[in-house]
Amino acid sequence: MNKNILVTGGAGYIGSHTCKALAQRGFTPIVLDNLSNGHDWAVKWGPLVKGDIADRAVLDEIFEKYQPSGVIHFAAFIEVGISMKDPGSFYRNNSCGTLTVLEAMRDHGCDRFVFSSTAAMYGMPNQVPITEDHPQWPINPYGWSKFMVERMLEDFSMAYGTKFCALRYFNAAGADPDGEIGESHDPESHLIPLVLRAAKDPDWNISVFGTDYDTPDGTCIRDYIHVCDLADAHIRALDYLADNESIAINLGTGTGNSVQEIIEAARKVTGDPIVPILGERRPGDPSRLVADRTLAKEKLGWEPQYTDILETIRHAWEWMNR
Ligand SMILES: NC(=O)c1ccc[n+]([C@@H]2O[C@H](COP(=O)([O-])OP(=O)(O)OC[C@H]3O[C@@H](n4cnc5c(N)ncnc54)[C@H](O)[C@@H]3O)[C@@H](O)[C@H]2O)c1
Repeated sequence: MNKNILVTGGAGYIGSHTCKALAQRGFTPIVLDNLSNGHDWAVKWGPLVKGDIADRAVLDEIFEKYQPSGVIHFAAFIEVGISMKDPGSFYRNNSCGTLTVLEAMRDHGCDRFVFSSTAAMYGMPNQVPITEDHPQWPINPYGWSKFMVERMLEDFSMAYGTKFCALRYFNAAGADPDGEIGESHDPESHLIPLVLRAAKDPDWNISVFGTDYDTPDGTCIRDYIHVCDLADAHIRALDYLADNESIAINLGTGTGNSVQEIIEAARKVTGDPIVPILGERRPGDPSRLVADRTLAKEKLGWEPQYTDILETIRHAWEWMNR
């Protein structure tokens, strides 16, 4: 098997950590990224092709030059709030852009596709922990743009034999423990870097949206999965597709942390009192989103290695202070 793997969006947060993990296991990640939200400094383990996933000519060049044996597809717009205001750009980039990648794969005889899907596929959950067969009905255009890709994947699989593993991540968190790479989003909307910024920057406040949810401390519970555990699962998914059929799999720890628990953990890590502003609920926030990770263990042999939220937050804090 050719050890070249095309990694779209490999200059971004989860993509760059996956490139490091690929290189550690003898693969060469070929990154295709337009740097709309990624960073050239995060591409350290293989070549960077600066280009767009919607550019068929660039994809053809990559497939001809590197003959990748698989594609790991991270490239997408990720901001749920922006997707509500500008859904067109999400459907164009996340759904149509992916279609171009899938067609290029088909035409170049590459049949292994690992996809960054999301827990947003499930919308408002009617049971927690959430299993993969939970009804899929997203509540924002970001989630629908990913839903459409999963639909396309089913059809490509049937018609052209494309094998896919759709990995539905819950909340990515933490950073490379060696400090080589980490999360660097602008704008940032993820809770942990926002809380840590409040510890670092006295002019920065952290807001808690809703303190009256049906949870032990009244704040929302999310499933924070370390970015290195996500990276590991992608490589297992590539291996899995060599001998198995297409599948969709949740990636989460299976336990959740409330917003208050994250703030408390961040206080311990940073030594800062971090005083949040307590606000009203935001529309569309489920009280709990926690993965059932039974299938990931069964099919990929995957289990999270970072299960202590203090450690995950410490890695993010160390990265922020570099
Ligand atoms: N971060 C999370 O918690 C989370 C949760 C669930 C799913 N996901 C999914 O995981 C993937 C990676 O997320 P992330 O947090 O690393 O995001 P990110 O923004 O850090 O990385 C995405 C990368 O894709 C690139 N990109 C975007 N559009 C492109 C295009 N048209 N052509 C080429 N490159 C393009 C960006 O420049 C960026 O480097 C995304 O698909 C996201 O939807 C993330």
